[in-house]
Amino acid sequence: MRAVPYLEGSAKKYALAAVDAEKRGDYEAAIVNLNKAIEYLTEIVRNYPDYPLAHIYRRLIAQYRRKVKDLEKKARMIPASGDEVYVDTQEKDGGGDEAPEFVLKEKPSVTFDDIAGLEEAKKAIREAIVFPVKRPDLFPLGWPRGILLYGPPGTGKTMLASAVANEIDGEFLYVDAANIMSKWLGEGEKNVKKLFNYARNKAKEGKPVVIFIDEVDALLGVHGSEVGGEVRVRNQFLKEMDGIQDKGSRLHVYVIAATNKPWKLDEPFIRRFQKRIYVPLPSRETRRRMLEMYTRKLRLASDVDLDRLAEMLEGYTGSDIADIVREAYMVTVRELFEKGKVDGEPRPITMSDFQEILRRRRPSVDHRLLKTYEEWTERFAAV
Ligand SMILES: Nc1ncnc2c1ncn2[C@@H]1O[C@H](COP(=O)(O)OP(=O)(O)OP(=O)(O)O)[C@@H](O)[C@H]1O
Ligand SMILES: [Mg+2]
Repeated sequence: MRAVPYLEGSAKKYALAAVDAEKRGDYEAAIVNLNKAIEYLTEIVRNYPDYPLAHIYRRLIAQYRRKVKDLEKKARMIPASGDEVYVDTQEKDGGGDEAPEFVLKEKPSVTFDDIAGLEEAKKAIREAIVFPVKRPDLFPLGWPRGILLYGPPGTGKTMLASAVANEIDGEFLYVDAANIMSKWLGEGEKNVKKLFNYARNKAKEGKPVVIFIDEVDALLGVHGSEVGGEVRVRNQFLKEMDGIQDKGSRLHVYVIAATNKPWKLDEPFIRRFQKRIYVPLPSRETRRRMLEMYTRKLRLASDVDLDRLAEMLEGYTGSDIADIVREAYMVTVRELFEKGKVDGEPRPITMSDFQEILRRRRPSVDHRLLKTYEEWTERFAAV
């Protein structure tokens, strides 16, 4: 089984490639890429139904499927030419009462309690969002609206941002990078406008609104093939960030962005996120807590020593640890089937099951990469 962060990253990559292909007028390639993205997302919702974003991804799959149908129509009707350019500058962006179609509003099911460790990150998020929402009068000088979560893959950034939805009584908007970018020059920019208009209007009703942009580097990273589109999306985004940050603004619109490639972001962008929170590898206590959480529903042999196991898992991410427990359990299930006892119960997992898996599996983040995060933290962290 492949890990969630890998599947998410792949889905995002193919979805963005589909946008690029559509821009070139290559509908066939767009369809192939989008179908790939659908495959990866499907693997997440099928194998990880409890993943906090699973139901959001189900909606996303439905959207991508509709898009594929649309592309198939186009591929049949128009010979690929790629010479259409559409610029719309006049149109008003509407009242913003309806959520734009590229925004997914479902609340994720995860809470802060489901997340092991990361106490500092949780505290920083609470202070940044929950305090100003409860007592705006205590913040006469304003408060930050942009929060950037960064750190190695599989450390809980997506979980953390998703859990915010349940910490506040408000709206949680999940934004998909591929859906916001568009083949039309100017359209991506307009989408950004629509998003923030909608968020501001909602916030005027008195409830906080959190916009979550996962793997934000995909949205704002420099795409070599493009002339102008991405730059304009980015500039519009920066303008909107300034807008919600405006000293006079008392509205509760927050933007949480997550990335495992913070060095892809440029300084003007980074500056808009006044809170920059490092989500590190789990400490020993946190690894121990994760082991407890992941093995809660499983049977363990009496020789399994979670303290020692936590020690041995130094350097592994939360996502690695979840996978390792899953693999260990699978060993016992496989045995059951191999013995032909399909109706029986799997035997308890033993310490040597874990040891065997650890022999074959290295941590997914290596030392050098870790150093890069630490260096970035020294330059840019702001809690
Ligand atoms: N602190 C944690 N507590 C509990 N589970 C965790 C934690 N960190 C990671 N996990 C496990 O790892 C999986 C992946 O975590 P998550 O998607 O939040 O990683 P990420 O930091 O967003 O990674 P990426 O940068 O690649 O997107 C989770 O679904 C969960 O099973
Ligand atoms: Mg993530």
